[in-house]
Amino acid sequence: MKRPRSRQAEPVRADLGGRVCIVTGATAGIGKEIARQLAALGATVVIAGRNLARTEAAAEEIARDTGNEAVETAHLDLASQDSIRGFAGEVVERFGRVEVLANNAAVWQPQRHLSADGIELTWAVNVLGPHLLTGLLADVLRKGQDARIVNVASRLAGGLDLSDVEFRRRRYNGIAAYRQSKQALRMLSWTWAERLEADGVTVGAAHPGFTRSDIARDVGGWQGTVVRAFFGRCGQSPQCGADTPLWLAASSQAQGQSGRFWVKRREWSCPYRDPAAREQLWEILCRQSHISTTC
Ligand SMILES: NC(=O)c1ccc[n+]([C@@H]2O[C@H](COP(=O)([O-])OP(=O)(O)OC[C@H]3O[C@@H](n4cnc5c(N)ncnc54)[C@H](OP(=O)(O)O)[C@@H]3O)[C@@H](O)[C@H]2O)c1
Repeated sequence: MKRPRSRQAEPVRADLGGRVCIVTGATAGIGKEIARQLAALGATVVIAGRNLARTEAAAEEIARDTGNEAVETAHLDLASQDSIRGFAGEVVERFGRVEVLANNAAVWQPQRHLSADGIELTWAVNVLGPHLLTGLLADVLRKGQDARIVNVASRLAGGLDLSDVEFRRRRYNGIAAYRQSKQALRMLSWTWAERLEADGVTVGAAHPGFTRSDIARDVGGWQGTVVRAFFGRCGQSPQCGADTPLWLAASSQAQGQSGRFWVKRREWSCPYRDPAAREQLWEILCRQSHISTTC
């Protein structure tokens, strides 16, 4: 099978000098490319990751490639609420304001595992972590100039069961857990957009497109072999996958375009906007992360 040619969009042009941009999951795949391109636009970039060696290697590579020395690292394990709180505290102390938060990190777990806080891992990393991080950084984002939150979502979304978000009652399935987490992330984006709009913070969700990456690294057996081969041979480059999230984070066209779902830099309709369901989700997440529902 021929690998599809990765079509290049018009490069994003912006001067991000002096802007503080945080990218989660920037050690690999799409996140590393978002971070690389933010650094190329002159931003101060924080590579936030759970593995020190991998975060430092990514930061060194990006600084070398872009000639931007303001590429920093910080420890962040989204599967641990203590780690998220520690990271947010460090950001507040080190920078005092943030212009871009790219909630990019995610997992696809074939088996049900629990986070350090005893929460189903896909839910903890893909939904609860971004919610807690956003809540803890909301004040420094409010201080940022033209601040933006970019949630890396997916068109592979659906099946959210608000009565069983952790698959305690339902039989666990890795794809079902991933799909519901990506639905929830979109719903959460619309609620954060409403809550932060008056403060001038733009919140959006972006689908990167089918991209070569390690997202299926934990899928074992023949299924894993097939899925990884499919990703490896048919996916677009991570650079192309980063395009829409980067555009949302940095372009002047995206400024103030809050509460929208973007695919290939175009707005797509999203069915997951029901206010009552979003309110229920918000309450679940605030309870699980022990943050105020009014943050
Ligand atoms: N690839 C696609 O086709 C596709 C399509 C639609 C949406 N997406 C979305 O795009 C985003 C990036 O995915 P990708 O394909 O680039 O995946 P990837 O190559 O697997 O990268 C995932 C990143 O998340 C990090 N991560 C995982 N668990 C973490 C944790 N507990 N704490 C902190 N960081 C953690 C990983 O860090 P380590 O280095 O420590 O493992 C890695 O940097 C995800 O939100 C995914 O859902 C991807």
